[in-house]
Amino acid sequence: ELSPIDKAKFVAAKRACDYVEDGMRVGLGTGSTAAWMVRCLGELVRDDGLNIVGVPTSSRTADLARQVGINVTSLDEARWLDVTIDGADEYDGNLNLIKGGGGALLQEKIVATASDQMVVIADISKKVETLGAFPLPIEIIPFGWQTTKALVEETLIGLDVLGRTTTLRMNGDAAFVTDEGNYILDLHLHRIANPRQMSLVINQIPGVVENGLFIDICDAVVIGYGSGKVEVHD
Ligand code: A5P
Repeated sequence: ELSPIDKAKFVAAKRACDYVEDGMRVGLGTGSTAAWMVRCLGELVRDDGLNIVGVPTSSRTADLARQVGINVTSLDEARWLDVTIDGADEYDGNLNLIKGGGGALLQEKIVATASDQMVVIADISKKVETLGAFPLPIEIIPFGWQTTKALVEETLIGLDVLGRTTTLRMNGDAAFVTDEGNYILDLHLHRIANPRQMSLVINQIPGVVENGLFIDICDAVVIGYGSGKVEVHD
């Protein structure tokens, strides 16, 4: 028996598999919600003979996809994708997102952008009026990271945010390292009045590789509830 939160993630993931058709190239997201989707797709491959190629957005997802029997390839091999299904940390009424809570935002953004469609799967707790309560992850290169951190904090002065604390994401006593060998800074902004401007300004800072704001990338959000109900916003 699943907990209400897992049930919500599972029903959203299962419904999102309706977007996947035979012969498609599918971007496979990262995180606990996306893992349900990978398992559901694996079941369709094994039991219904669904024929797809998956492009994973992290080494974790690649491992899981192989385990459940999904044919996996690289983005360079696939080049473009029909649909990407991924989780999110927050989504707003314009279907803009914050992602990267799991640290895979860079590959996730590249893969989602290379897809005709991006479908987000989430439980209702991810819905927000204004993005930013969830700390915004930004991927930075390790070289000179303290300088980059200071530059990011300086840049945030003058932007319409409530908080400006930035923290280096840790993995025990060491810095958390992404699949690309980079670090993650979490920006505690509380409220991002203008996500588009925020994304552009942050990405201009040397040392910043990418940020977790997904603007105009997501086409639909499939929301699951603990009761088993599912809603689609598009
Ligand atoms: C991974 O880097 C993230 O973007 C995830 O998609 C996001 O953190 C959602 O994860 P959960 O589904 O585990 O909440």
